[in-house]
Amino acid sequence: MDLSTFWIVMWIMMPAYLANTIAVLTGGKYPIDQGKNYSDGNRILGDGKTWSGLIGGTIGGIIIGYLQLNYGDSLIERLANINEVDFWGEKPIIIFFLLSFGALFGDMTASFIKRRSQLKRGDKSPLLDMFDFIGMALLLSFIFANDWLMSWILEGYVPLFTLLVATPILHRGVNIIGYKLGVKNEPW
Ligand code: CTP
Ligand code: MG
Repeated sequence: MDLSTFWIVMWIMMPAYLANTIAVLTGGKYPIDQGKNYSDGNRILGDGKTWSGLIGGTIGGIIIGYLQLNYGDSLIERLANINEVDFWGEKPIIIFFLLSFGALFGDMTASFIKRRSQLKRGDKSPLLDMFDFIGMALLLSFIFANDWLMSWILEGYVPLFTLLVATPILHRGVNIIGYKLGVKNEPW
């Protein structure tokens, strides 16, 4: 296992990971579906998807990326024992936006799917909950920042391993902490 690649991938995905966490903190106000139901009689998205979460999380994720770029990149280079890496490509702010907005957009898409399968707000849907945010962050990057994504995601098996195995573990861990701290209603 190439540990330095593992750290690089975790570092690159940080704006996506934290956008979700920040949305929990800023969220709760102004439901995006405005309280409306879909044709199946269930809420379109539910009260767990709000403008304050979407906007707060997106801006928060961009700020995280900006802080990483300006204050953290050299730190992680030391930790991973690597020489200067171009983590964010030519247009870092675009990458931060794609990662953080993508994460929240994925989370919204998952809620839409959950509501269609009769799951209420906060109900558990393990696979969707763990991969929705990362899936959409990667999909948006694939579409709008393809060169950047391809510059790191196919470096051997470690990037995909990190995304598929470490992400769900990390996601669950953060949510358990959030639940214990009382900021999140459920530990998933
Ligand atoms: N949140 C928000 N707006 C978003 C995303 C999250 O306000 N776009 C806030 C909500 O307060 C939400 C909490 O973050 O309850 C936790 O997010 P999440 O687990 O994604 O939502 P759930 O409440 O579990 O709702 P769902 O079943 O639709 O996922
Ligand atoms: Mg949830």
